[in-house]
Amino acid sequence: MRFSRPLAALLVLLLGSVAVAASVAGWSEGTPAANSANVLQGLGEPVEIPLPASLAERIDGPTLLVYFSPTCPHCQHAQPELNEVAERLAGKAKVLGIASSRSDPKALDRYRDTYKVRYPLIIDEDAAIARAISARSTPSVIYLEPEKRKIVAKDAWYPFRRGQGSLLVMRALGTPFAGFDEGRYHGNATCMACHTEEAGAWLLSHHSVAWDTLLARDDHQKAECVGCHVTGMGKPTGWVAGDTARDHLVDVGCEACHGPGGPHDGKVDAPAEACAGCHDKKHSIAFSVAKGLPLIDHYAANKLDDDAFTAELRALHSGERERPLLAFAEGPHVGSAACKSCHTDEHAWWSQDPHGKAMATLSTKEHEGAPAAEAVACVRCHASPKTHGGPEPTELAGFALDEGGVGCESCHGPGGAHVKAGGGTDNIEGLGDDCPVCVLEALCTSCHTTTWDPTWDLDRRLKAVGHK
Ligand code: HEC
Ligand code: HEC
Ligand code: HEC
Ligand code: HEC
Ligand code: HEC
Ligand code: HEC
Ligand code: HEC
Ligand code: HEC
Repeated sequence: MRFSRPLAALLVLLLGSVAVAASVAGWSEGTPAANSANVLQGLGEPVEIPLPASLAERIDGPTLLVYFSPTCPHCQHAQPELNEVAERLAGKAKVLGIASSRSDPKALDRYRDTYKVRYPLIIDEDAAIARAISARSTPSVIYLEPEKRKIVAKDAWYPFRRGQGSLLVMRALGTPFAGFDEGRYHGNATCMACHTEEAGAWLLSHHSVAWDTLLARDDHQKAECVGCHVTGMGKPTGWVAGDTARDHLVDVGCEACHGPGGPHDGKVDAPAEACAGCHDKKHSIAFSVAKGLPLIDHYAANKLDDDAFTAELRALHSGERERPLLAFAEGPHVGSAACKSCHTDEHAWWSQDPHGKAMATLSTKEHEGAPAAEAVACVRCHASPKTHGGPEPTELAGFALDEGGVGCESCHGPGGAHVKAGGGTDNIEGLGDDCPVCVLEALCTSCHTTTWDPTWDLDRRLKAVGHK
């Protein structure tokens, strides 16, 4: 195995070193992998653990105690990954499962069978082990080694959470090198433990809700949808439908762009080349890496205090967060009247549709004491901008108010080239059957946010804009 520069940097960090500032153009200042030293340090000084003699006898070498309960859902959820950890540590450390004192032996047998646990499981009859290791939550994992007739803890995960398996292996084996198996998808929890600043930015990005988006539409079991909304589908150890050992790989995680193990498994790292695999012409109109890169600023969360971070997180999960990427190719607004001569029926529909009359709706309303029809805060969704595809206007003069509402081009993109060419299908967004729901949903919900349209349902709403 080869090791790349960042891994060498890891070792330097182990010995104590200086952090480097972020270097990607258009990104905020930040420190890559800011938390590495803490993660690698683990518990620091080994702590003596006064285990009951019967158990202490069994600890004749490095041992991982997994404290759990067969009925605890978190344990059941983590078990497939703990099985993997046991395999990865085989020959280097033993794993021993300790079921909490109230566990029923029959339930334990069922658990062993259901989750195919291959390491020994014993019941902590009198809760002496739980007391000795001070375990309060399940599952908890503690890494023990015999040392001069004592048993000491080298590491502890209270509680152990899904996705931490690689970190556990890394620390149990005493070196980060051992934790990054070539080609293995580790999951965000591993990357984010060291890369805390990048983690903050990712949590605020739409990539972190890609799976929720499918869940919300009940499309998460459709094979034609999942590939771009998860990490590593179709790759060994990547996401697999229905495999609970892999379900922490939902969403577009770090490794969706950086590859399995990131640059740490010795492979070349060219994350920007990954975008096009998902942001293709059909699913992400007018996408370019140049436009997308500043929008995934990995240090964007550094400027936010806790309250601002929580507010942004809430906005993301409620669907209110902006989606600046979804934008038409840039071009001037030519106005709906310019479409009338050729698309007479569509124009007739539009002039009667709520979109075509959306400015009239504002005429009787007020916003902060002023007429709503003069407030950018209202007009931005009730009229079309004079330029599509660029930044949103911040002045009233930036909107085509004279056409009375949301024009054709707010849904179909700038029409200048299309009108000039006398029509065509490659110079305008068709939004018909070949248009994926990714584009439609993002387009409509850019205005139909949960605030303004709490009962939004794409399929139902689409019928109403059928132009008939
Ligand atoms: C959508 C794709 C994508 C995702 C998801 C993603 N990254 Fe990146 N990452 C990039 C790109 C692109 C770059 C910039 C590479 C360049 O141009 O040098 C980058 C750069 C980095 C860098 C180097 C930053 C610097 O200042 O030099 C680190 C570290 C990093 N990513 C870690 C992470 C971690 C950790 C996660 C998950 C929390 C993550 N990335 C998620 C695409 C992504
Ligand atoms: C044990 C801590 C640790 C873990 C876990 C970790 N990294 Fe890193 N990573 C580092 C350190 C340290 C650097 C070097 C930072 C620097 O340049 O200052 C680094 C650098 C990087 C870079 C920048 C590489 C470059 O050439 O500029 C990327 C990208 C990255 N890591 C991605 C990931 C991903 C993806 C994961 C999860 C699979 C991950 N890291 C897990 C510590 C870690
Ligand atoms: C594995 C597939 C995948 C890869 C690779 C990927 N993306 Fe995405 N991206 C998505 C999906 C899916 C969404 C929409 C998520 C949602 O809202 O549910 C998205 C959303 C985004 C958004 C937010 C949408 C908006 O309107 O602002 C940005 C920005 C973005 N991606 C940029 C990038 C960039 C830049 C890269 C490459 C460095 C990249 N993505 C790589 C799948 C991917
Ligand atoms: C000079 C006549 C003409 C004008 C003006 C015109 N179009 Fe078209 N449009 C066409 C023709 C021809 C087609 C192709 C029809 C076909 O192939 O089915 C078309 C197709 C379309 C399509 C469907 C594209 C697709 O991929 O299926 C949309 C949407 C559209 N026009 C919107 C507009 C809008 C919006 C305007 C005003 C900005 C406009 N058109 C102005 C002639 C025109
Ligand atoms: C530029 C912002 C914008 C976009 C994009 C947009 N809408 Fe609308 N939509 C509105 C506004 C504003 C109204 C309310 C108009 C009024 O009554 O004043 C509305 C009203 C509607 C209505 C009528 C609701 C009712 O209660 O009668 C439907 C249906 C609708 N939109 C569907 C869609 C669909 C489907 C899409 C995507 C193809 C879409 N809209 C895209 C802003 C937008
Ligand atoms: C983010 C986009 C957006 C913004 C900003 C916006 N609206 Fe709307 N508005 C909509 C949509 C979408 C609808 C249609 C909702 C529906 O029918 O389900 C709508 C409908 C309306 C309606 C008719 C239905 C109702 O709720 O009574 C009024 C009135 C209205 N908006 C006023 C305003 C005012 C006043 C402002 C400024 C404070 C404003 N809007 C800002 C998107 C927006
Ligand atoms: C609220 C968004 C919205 C607005 C505003 C809008 N359209 Fe559409 N348009 C759509 C959608 C969605 C479709 C696809 C409908 C479908 O396939 O049922 C569509 C389809 C079309 C088509 C293709 C029709 C076909 O049968 O293939 C044309 C042409 C068109 N629109 C022209 C216009 C014109 C011209 C205007 C303005 C006068 C306009 N649209 C306004 C959303 C919109
Ligand atoms: C080829 C990759 C790919 C496939 C396949 C794919 N998506 Fe997407 N999806 C994306 C990307 C990329 C985005 C972000 C688009 C943007 O913002 O430019 C996205 C965005 C979305 C959004 C918009 C999220 C929002 O809240 O605005 C929805 C909804 C969505 N996808 C659902 C689906 C469904 C349902 C399917 C299956 C029919 C699907 N996707 C298949 C790549 C894909």
